[in-house]
Amino acid sequence: WMWCGLLMLLAYLLGSIPTGYTAAKLLKGIDIRDEGSGSIGATNVLRTLGKGPAVVVLLVDTLKGVGAIALASAFYAVIPPDSLPLDWQPWLAAAAGIMAILGHSRSIWLNFAGGKSVATSLGVLLAMSLPVGLSALVIFLAVLGISRIVSLSSMTAAVAVAVLSFIFPQPLPYDLFGLAAGIYVIWRHRSNIERLLSGTEPQIGQKLPTQT
Ligand code: G3P
Repeated sequence: WMWCGLLMLLAYLLGSIPTGYTAAKLLKGIDIRDEGSGSIGATNVLRTLGKGPAVVVLLVDTLKGVGAIALASAFYAVIPPDSLPLDWQPWLAAAAGIMAILGHSRSIWLNFAGGKSVATSLGVLLAMSLPVGLSALVIFLAVLGISRIVSLSSMTAAVAVAVLSFIFPQPLPYDLFGLAAGIYVIWRHRSNIERLLSGTEPQIGQKLPTQT
């Protein structure tokens, strides 16, 4: 259990790296939590800092998810032999994925605030199952192309992951990760859902008045 706890802690700390927050502080000296949607994710970085920083934040936040799964795989190589059963591996990977997305949206460095965990979840999905991750990405891009609204695209992809998990066979813990992450990502979009319903959610490139 000590080894499991260590892995979970490391995955959480990896997810906690506040990429968007740091970019805004370094580039503009501002707290991104006081800008636009208040999220530290790539969408709000795009609004606040522009394309270049948004691409970097998107990449790094996605890599945090990939890293959590890589960490879970590498873990068996570094811990004493036989300290963890081998068949726990997919369960540990799924749990590490959850810890990384929790870290991203509830960062230890930001008073447990953060982003909406879309990019980090994508990274976890890509590392767990390339077909599921890539299909989710394609669905995200398709909805974005049509609607030009990032939150709507994120939530559609989050729902789609549950379906994709059944189309592409993968270990049960990965299915459960997709389901849990999908529900969590939608829950993190509560304010976006309100704006979508009231018709005030901005399309990409449109301004979003700072939310209180
Ligand atoms: O990935 C987050 C995105 O779906 C919404 O971000 O800043 O518009 O709330 P934001």
